[in-house]
Amino acid sequence: MENNITNESLYKEASEYMVGGVNSPIRAFKYAGIAPLIIKNGRGSKVYDYNGKSYIDYVLGYGAIILGHAHPLVVKGLKNKLNDGFVFGATTREEIELAKIIKSAVPLMEKIRFVNSGTEAVMGAIRLARAFTGRDLLVKFTSSYHGHADYLLCEKKVLEDGVIPVSKGVTANLIKDTIIAEYGNIESIKDVFAKYGKKIAAVIVEPVAGNYGVICPNVDFIKTLRSLTKQYGALLIFDEVITGFRFGFWELGSMFCVRPDVIVLGKIIGGGMPIGAFGGREKIMNYLAPLGEVYQAGTFSGNPISMANGINTLKILNQDTKAKYKYLINYGITLSYEIKKIAYKYGIGLTMGEFLTMFSFKFKTREMFHDFYKIAIENGVFFAPSEFEANFISLAHTEKDLKKTLFVCEKAFRKISKKDYQYAE
Ligand SMILES: Cc1ncc(COP(=O)(O)O)c(C=O)c1O
Repeated sequence: MENNITNESLYKEASEYMVGGVNSPIRAFKYAGIAPLIIKNGRGSKVYDYNGKSYIDYVLGYGAIILGHAHPLVVKGLKNKLNDGFVFGATTREEIELAKIIKSAVPLMEKIRFVNSGTEAVMGAIRLARAFTGRDLLVKFTSSYHGHADYLLCEKKVLEDGVIPVSKGVTANLIKDTIIAEYGNIESIKDVFAKYGKKIAAVIVEPVAGNYGVICPNVDFIKTLRSLTKQYGALLIFDEVITGFRFGFWELGSMFCVRPDVIVLGKIIGGGMPIGAFGGREKIMNYLAPLGEVYQAGTFSGNPISMANGINTLKILNQDTKAKYKYLINYGITLSYEIKKIAYKYGIGLTMGEFLTMFSFKFKTREMFHDFYKIAIENGVFFAPSEFEANFISLAHTEKDLKKTLFVCEKAFRKISKKDYQYAE
């Protein structure tokens, strides 16, 4: 270990300067019940820490990485771009090129606005929907996460109408225009529209939810959202910050035969650099300033470095693209299937949330997850440190990684199967 620097020493130092030693709460690994990893670098399917260990990475920057870490061509492209300067406060050619690539894959995004994060993109899309419809109410779903805007940090009151904040500092006033329906429940959304229909500006939904474990809704649910929003004159916003370009070089809605009004993207389109984007039909998007009266701006929006990284990533992804997604999907499906098979063999009560190249774990108790997670980390597999977060596959993951992951899962399940757990949770 270089100069006695370890994960532990760095985390101690980090905690002296940053709240809880992190800049985003999940990175404290609190849910997983272990000391946080401090990552030194990443290459391909692996990340490396300061204790000299490597891990097969299924977190992948919470879904921002799809080619694998530090893909040589992306790194080369970025290095070249760095010589041109970083931010100008004026449009660059890269913005046009990335917009073109995205529109070619997602034609519904007739016009696009680039921002710096998924949160910002969601906020822009919602402000736009409110202005376009002249209405206030926003419908979101239980078990969804759309970033940390105040009015989205709320949950449904148990057995009652109305919402409650899920964060201190979010006041009742800030969430009064948010309504929450149950994800995947057609009756629940029908009730909401029957009650508030003409006051609803938009429904925002993750077509495949990735923030409460992975949940794929049934097609009828998504279709119902489309028909109700159309019927009542509200907009349908697909939050594809996680799912955009994750399963194919096309819009996810086409899989459900549903076209939303606005799509929100992030993560993959920046290839690991900070980014967010929202877009939709021109008629709607033109409400944005400078053409329209919806204010939305940002010093770093459309940043040439993020744009260049996104262009290089998507260009690589778009070469022999069918084979690439086939590989990702095969890996994802095989991994989930084999993990479930091993869990069954050892009588482990494990359920998995899965959709093609995304998966999540749900054990019978938190303690079981803790034990599983600890063994995975000790044996060099980095899964998302919470049962509510999604895991992902990259193109750098190999057959060897798959085998090792299954081997480590088997080791963990064998150990878990020998322990008595209290199932009272
Ligand atoms: C579905 C979804 N929407 C929005 C966001 C917010 O994106 P960001 O973290 O880039 O602000 C996330 C973040 O994970 C997300 O999963």
